[in-house]
Amino acid sequence: MKLFVDTGQVEEVQQAAEWGIIDGVTTNPSLIAKAGRDFKETVLAICRLVPSGAVSAEVVGTTTDQMLREAREIASWAPNIVVKIPMTPAGIQATRVLTQEGIRVNMTLVFSPAQALLAAKAGASFISVFVGRVDDVAGEGMRTIEEVVHMVENYGFPSEVLVASIRHPMHVVEAMRLGAHIATMPFKVLEQLFHHPLTDIGLQRFLEDWNRAGLQIFEPVRV
Ligand code: E4P
Repeated sequence: MKLFVDTGQVEEVQQAAEWGIIDGVTTNPSLIAKAGRDFKETVLAICRLVPSGAVSAEVVGTTTDQMLREAREIASWAPNIVVKIPMTPAGIQATRVLTQEGIRVNMTLVFSPAQALLAAKAGASFISVFVGRVDDVAGEGMRTIEEVVHMVENYGFPSEVLVASIRHPMHVVEAMRLGAHIATMPFKVLEQLFHHPLTDIGLQRFLEDWNRAGLQIFEPVRV
């Protein structure tokens, strides 16, 4: 399963890239606005940090023509950009045109298997199914992931199911269990994936035992 970080903060992407475990980055207009830097400058900085990963950058136009114009501009900035298009009739139409032009699309704001089917038929490379926002209103976001993964596999669509709006590590684990292709998460959740109290206790004990025995890996330097 691919791991993406969901952020507009270049410093967070840099840290995640240094760990060597991320396959891409997703942004959205809210995250870019929160980061407080120029859109193109931010996206290009992220693209440089993950040169072989997919970097999603979103259009803000609402008509097909506006989306096409913005998408072609954004896609021209770097070869690893995937243009994020919202799940609307205009967005579906734009997605079909863009995929025929060879521009990869991440269809965003998908909340139902029916919407995901339209995104797959339009040729979206990634289908971003939001789970946290559904859980927030007492729904079952992961149920939709299960259905969408089944739909994509059943019909052999080349689209990848991207689990978005992740709130905590168990969302990542559930996405993995269900066979989703990608999980995108806030940097904080990525950090949380590292932690287990038994790892901390285990490491502490190993080091205490080692130091108590006075052992060394390198031979002492003789002068
Ligand atoms: C997806 O790509 C979105 O940017 C993101 O996952 C939305 O998450 P949120 O519901 O926490 O805003």
